[in-house]
Amino acid sequence: MTTAAARPDLIAHFPFPFVDDIYRYSTNVEPAGAQVSTPAGQWGDSAVVVDSEYHAELAERAAILDADPTRRAVLPHMRPAAWDAMLTILRELAQAYPETMHLTSLGGDEWRWRNDLLGEERTFRYGDESSLGDDPLHYISTQVQEDIALLDQRDGQLFVDAGIITFAADWSFGFDVGMSFLEIHGPVPRVRKMGVITRAHEFLKRLQPHEPYRRTNWTMTIGRRLDVSTERYPEWGPDREMIQHVDDAEFGRLVHLRVEVQHLIRLPDSGAVMFLIRTYLLPLEAVATVDPWRARAAEVFAELPDDMADYKGIIKYRTRAAQWLRSYEALHSPIAEP
Ligand code: HEM
Repeated sequence: MTTAAARPDLIAHFPFPFVDDIYRYSTNVEPAGAQVSTPAGQWGDSAVVVDSEYHAELAERAAILDADPTRRAVLPHMRPAAWDAMLTILRELAQAYPETMHLTSLGGDEWRWRNDLLGEERTFRYGDESSLGDDPLHYISTQVQEDIALLDQRDGQLFVDAGIITFAADWSFGFDVGMSFLEIHGPVPRVRKMGVITRAHEFLKRLQPHEPYRRTNWTMTIGRRLDVSTERYPEWGPDREMIQHVDDAEFGRLVHLRVEVQHLIRLPDSGAVMFLIRTYLLPLEAVATVDPWRARAAEVFAELPDDMADYKGIIKYRTRAAQWLRSYEALHSPIAEP
């Protein structure tokens, strides 16, 4: 079971997802790029974020891909989208981190990429895999912590026809690849009646290049475990039973609020939609040090309807999580609201 005290940057830049004491599904998209202030710091400056987990998460992704090739796929018609995704993300990285990430146009289709954090430099010709020495989607997944899905738009629908997803929250990329956006969301309770997914689908089909959007999603995970894919359920599923029997200190260390910041980007050359999923994990014992977060998360966990809690896989321990947060006595002085 992996746990580690949350490093200060993981709290300062944590995208706390709750804007109210009650959580319900909604399309909840907003233009990307605007910084969001929180009682602990801020998040939201860029579509790709490098933090103190960079090296550890890239190593974890590499190990997962080595062990299980079904976590990545590029259907043949998505090759142009994979190049488009790679260059778009390299540009984002270079813009967000100009001191360590450098993208230089050498004229025509030739580019040079230098990533000082990885001590890596490559010159490549756009569209030519042999010049890159890799499939472009795989290569870009070695440079960013985000998971990536690419959606093809045809016949008035979106299809998840490519991606590299190593940190799925209770779903299987290998199972879903090739499925439509509407089919993929079939298991989510309530959303059909509410029209959330059909509205999101219409919105995504109209998405324009250079106008990225973002949204958040959340659940809880036991342990600092990024890969809670369906494939590895036998490893992590039993934790949902185990967590009910640990003492309070262990509970606060093990139970993590898991937040995904998802970016929705229309790729300019191929017309595909890129879906970036970045996963942040913060243990309850760290959430509780920020008093407004502690109080609000407790309300949300306690109030969440059973069908949603069941779907998220947290029904057995969400009430205890709410009680744990409510009865938390700050060992460290809580960070006050500015
Ligand atoms: C799950 C909404 C975009 C893939 C969900 C859930 C909601 C949702 C409400 C349930 C989450 C939970 O309770 O934890 C949306 C909206 C989107 C969007 C409003 C866009 C505006 C996408 C895209 C993909 C995607 C582009 C492409 C890969 C998934 C998957 C699940 C999911 C795989 C888990 C489904 C399962 O249980 O098997 N989404 N989503 N979503 N979403 Fe989306």
